Amino acid sequence: MAQMSIELQTADDTIHFGRSLGRVLRAGDLVLLAGPLGAGKTTMTRGIADGMGVTGRVSSPTFVLARVHPAGPAGVALVHADAYRLGGDLSQLDDLDLDTDLDRAALVVEWGEGLAERLSDDYLVVRLARRPDDVRTVRLEPHGAWTGRVAELPVAT
Ligand SMILES: Nc1ncnc2c1ncn2[C@@H]1O[C@H](COP(=O)(O)OP(=O)(O)OP(=O)(O)O)[C@@H](O)[C@H]1O
Ligand SMILES: [Mg+2]
Repeated sequence: MAQMSIELQTADDTIHFGRSLGRVLRAGDLVLLAGPLGAGKTTMTRGIADGMGVTGRVSSPTFVLARVHPAGPAGVALVHADAYRLGGDLSQLDDLDLDTDLDRAALVVEWGEGLAERLSDDYLVVRLARRPDDVRTVRLEPHGAWTGRVAELPVAT
């Protein structure tokens, strides 16, 4: 069942939400960040990276296609990709020489909606929106195995 949308009043709230999500991510997970320009996708990824305890500073992947954040103590790396720049073909990820095994990483994709179906039946869409008053909202749309997993997530920001 789709979660109700949650208000993220500040960028810190976006980070905080991402952190909660990052704490539950496992190797092989696929998360799609959906939402218009400036909605907070990269900011959310910063929180996810923090929650996962990975290393390396998160920045917009626009010019690098995909960036690997090596695993911290939790043992799971983060691959942060931009599907828009990948030309809508996520299979290219395999060709990028990412220096990590995608099976041992969580994959977080900005602009990845509509492409994930080819990678896995199990994925989580994190839908960000920007209201006219500039407040961001977030809604989780689980698919496949994620349907059961979202119940474990703390949703309060
Ligand atoms: N909840 C929020 N409230 C207000 N500002 C926010 C919030 N979340 C993020 N921001 C701010 O919005 C701006 C854009 O954020 P960000 O770069 O994360 O968006 P994006 O969705 O990745 O953009 P793009 O589509 O260009 O990749 C940043 O200045 C960020 O600090
Ligand atoms: Mg971005």
